[in-house]
Amino acid sequence: MTDKADFQDRMLSLGLARVAEQAAIASAALVGRGDEKAADQAAVNAMRDQLNMLDIQGVVVIGEGERDEAPMLYIGEEVGTGTGPAVDIALDPLEGTTLTAKAMPNALTVIAMAPRGTLLHAPDTYMDKLAIGPGYPENVVSLDMSPKERVEALAKARKCKPSDITVCILERPRHQDMIAEVRSTGAAIKLITDGDVAGVIHCAEAEKTGIDMYMGTGGAPEGVLAASALKCMGGQFFGRLVFRNDDEKARAAKAGITDLDRVYTRDELVTSDVIFAATGVTDGSIVSGIKRSPGFVETETILMRSRTGSVRRMIYRTPVE
Ligand code: FBP
Repeated sequence: MTDKADFQDRMLSLGLARVAEQAAIASAALVGRGDEKAADQAAVNAMRDQLNMLDIQGVVVIGEGERDEAPMLYIGEEVGTGTGPAVDIALDPLEGTTLTAKAMPNALTVIAMAPRGTLLHAPDTYMDKLAIGPGYPENVVSLDMSPKERVEALAKARKCKPSDITVCILERPRHQDMIAEVRSTGAAIKLITDGDVAGVIHCAEAEKTGIDMYMGTGGAPEGVLAASALKCMGGQFFGRLVFRNDDEKARAAKAGITDLDRVYTRDELVTSDVIFAATGVTDGSIVSGIKRSPGFVETETILMRSRTGSVRRMIYRTPVE
């Protein structure tokens, strides 16, 4: 890429940060109000308005749902001014609607952008996910290993005991056996109630978060967003779609997926360079949540580009009425 093209890419990334910021600000008044839908809607509206001001020819590939289910930011919706680069957009205007409604940690607004045709069009199904941070040999852990084998393999690679490993898992009845098996190795588990994009990102900053590995099933769209983040920060990610019924299989077929058992690596979910931005809605270990003081609002955004491996943390303070 030429210097000028790189400069434009960087400027565009700043625009993306603003998209995430504005979505977070829009949902700020709804933190802790018990209304998940209203919080999500506020973030969706703001994200869409901001996105449509960016000079891109964008297509939403990971969005709020199928066209007939979501009036805004649906899969296939064209966004941006219609000039500028042709890009895929993956977004979750409010990742952690329940976390927001209950004012619990790690709710984020999330958006990723990559050249057209390079983000997996993940159907709205579950995905079995496995992630570790940077610095490990490739494929040191895999989805085909049992949870116990994963812990043992990671401990061996880290030259530590299994009891020195911490695994992050979504607290769900479907993960009961996995949790028991991980515990049987002596490893610690950080259980989260929601928000597995943040769960995965934690692995990329293990020294800060204390989390070495993420595993378990969660939303497939969130898997593509998490893979985008790890592509910028470093780390390994593996995902395999999980289907509960024929309707979900049909969704995959519609998205052009024929091999239903395929394990996707990070770079197969995101096949080119990607820009990723996330703003904290509630306080978390990646970014702080929105702070409101009389007349002002303050946000923290993490903005990353895989091309350069740059990670920016931006504090934005603005007057509000
Ligand atoms: P929402 O923000 O859409 O509520 O998603 C939160 C989330 O926890 C995701 O992070 C995760 O991938 C998914 O829900 C897990 O789904 P489920 O709640 O069905 O287990």
